[in-house]
Amino acid sequence: KKQINILGIESSCDETAAAVVTNGSRIRSSVVASQEDIHREWGGVVPELASRAHLENIYPVIKKAVDDANIDLHDIDAIAIANQPGLVVSLIIGVTAAKTLALTLDKPLISINHVHAHLQAAILAEENVELPAAALIVSGGHTNLYDCESPLDLRLLGSTIDDAAGEAFDKVASILGLGYPGGPVIDKVAKKGNPTAVRFPRSMMGKDSLDFSFSGLKTAVLYHCQGQDMKGTSQVDKMSEQEIADIAASFQAAVVEVLTRKTELAAQQIKARTVLVGGGVGANSALRESLTRSCEKSGRNLLIAPMKLCTDNAVMIASLAYHKYKAGLFADLTLEPKART
Ligand code: KG4
Ligand code: ZN
Repeated sequence: KKQINILGIESSCDETAAAVVTNGSRIRSSVVASQEDIHREWGGVVPELASRAHLENIYPVIKKAVDDANIDLHDIDAIAIANQPGLVVSLIIGVTAAKTLALTLDKPLISINHVHAHLQAAILAEENVELPAAALIVSGGHTNLYDCESPLDLRLLGSTIDDAAGEAFDKVASILGLGYPGGPVIDKVAKKGNPTAVRFPRSMMGKDSLDFSFSGLKTAVLYHCQGQDMKGTSQVDKMSEQEIADIAASFQAAVVEVLTRKTELAAQQIKARTVLVGGGVGANSALRESLTRSCEKSGRNLLIAPMKLCTDNAVMIASLAYHKYKAGLFADLTLEPKART
């Protein structure tokens, strides 16, 4: 059989998603139900609310993905589910739906690591990727560098010891009164700001380290906003739009510089021909520009996930599952959600 159709399901955080992908790269459908509006008023993801919203959304989202793909359920060859890492109360909704479908349709179940799948978004449209690649996965929950030998063979080289980069964007946006989620709004506001206005710290964690730390940067922004007297009250209300834009741009420049330098360092260490980038922060325009310049200089191929596939989606789940399908790596109905990997 030539065509392998995989239904991917994703519910690890605050997006309920389903997609049908043929042979790992042909996107037949992709449905994402965002819960942004639910969590906005809390300034972050509330697990209990996320879980309930997944429960409401999971059936209509899967149904729409199957309908949009114009495929008969029985022509689906496997059900793929992101079962780790993430919020267990969220993951469990997708895992339960996937198991139910696998059981009732009598199709194989494939378990997927959500973070690894983010990388697949960068390579799924590519015919030939020169490997090994240095892979940066940068999202609201993760800031990881990998040595990627194949889509199924990722070796962790470094990660954040505290906040993820996306988390820093979200927290700084909240400090600046810019709303939630922080990444897209800081990206937009920073375009009007001066990235050299404030010299925020760039935590490099030692010369050869591939680990990250962003919590000091977040604190530096907080202190900066409290003014010189550091009395603890935020001065943000009194700042002009330009001042806010300058802080946003300066913060973003610090994150982008660290991410770019560490990615380049990882590529040097493993002698990578290619740099891969995925995850929500991969949508950041300054990061995309900076990595483009850095890879031009070093002569490496740069593959960044298309904007739409940077943030959480199920295309990346179904796409990575194709590689597991071909390798015969299946899960069984005892599969459980896991918070960490
Ligand atoms: O990959 P994702 O959807 O979820 C996780 O797996 O965490 O990433 C969401 C994160 C959020 O922290 C959001 O603020 C950030 O990605 N993000 C951005 C941009 N778009 C989304 N950060 C910086 N610039 C952006 N344009
Ligand atoms: Zn994600």
